[in-house]
Amino acid sequence: MTFQNLLTKIENAVMTITINRPDKLNALNKLTVQEIGEAIKLAKENSDVKAVIITGAGPKSFVAGADISEFVGLSPEQGKAMAKAGQDVFKSIEDCPKPIVAAVNGFALGGGCELAMACHIRVASENALFGQPEVKLGLIPGYGGTQRLVQYLGKGKAIEYMMNAENMNAQQALQFGLVNYVTTPENLLTLCNEVIAKILRWSPKANAGVIAAVNGYFAEGVDGFAKEVDEFGNRFTSDDFKEGVAAFTEKRKPNFK
Ligand code: COA
Repeated sequence: MTFQNLLTKIENAVMTITINRPDKLNALNKLTVQEIGEAIKLAKENSDVKAVIITGAGPKSFVAGADISEFVGLSPEQGKAMAKAGQDVFKSIEDCPKPIVAAVNGFALGGGCELAMACHIRVASENALFGQPEVKLGLIPGYGGTQRLVQYLGKGKAIEYMMNAENMNAQQALQFGLVNYVTTPENLLTLCNEVIAKILRWSPKANAGVIAAVNGYFAEGVDGFAKEVDEFGNRFTSDDFKEGVAAFTEKRKPNFK
């Protein structure tokens, strides 16, 4: 499938989604958000895809936010609809049963920071900058930023960064636990693939169970412990469980399908 604002490729079972509006620093207009949702759906449904990397085109920016030019003249209802559409797409990233890694190659501001936070793991290049500068525009984050930044930074730091609109550099983001790794721009995608390769050694179904149970901790109205009980129990009928236990007993590496 071809997209107007995304490039996609599948290599070694990893789909790389590149947001491709470099002249606008990969700002997320409506179409781009919609296309990200479609690409994630494709990745989820395609059995050749075992993991996803999301990155931005060009050397300067992951995503510099929602496209501000589309904000002009919106009514409150239209603003709400825009936030809901973005939140739904980002939730589909968070809930995707296949691991999704953000390769943050520069500005991750506003919707860019929110997109990175919706991914399961973040790898940043040294030039990455994270922030939620919406208050500068008289707005607040609308694609999940007020909720997810708190999850990563804790309430005190998150509320300060959202209210003072300052950016975090890659080292600060690492120190705060917002990103998992920082590396050079040249090594960014290599490191993302290494992070993924370590995960793909093990049962895909079990890793999907980890994602679902961990998300249960944060989901409204869900008892995370009950979710863990379900996910744990459900693994016992899987071929991966049989293979994992057989491999342990036979003192060999498991061969998960
Ligand atoms: N929405 C729409 N267009 C954007 C954009 C956004 N969020 N961020 C950058 N762009 C566009 C600029 O308008 C410019 O387009 P033009 O060449 O047609 O004028 C182009 O991308 C390059 O941006 P520019 O501002 O010239 O680059 P810079 O290196 O001087 O500054 C930033 C980079 C990221 C600091 C600056 O672009 C910026 O502050 N962007 C907005 C960030 C933001 O508030 N995001 C949250 C939105 S809710």
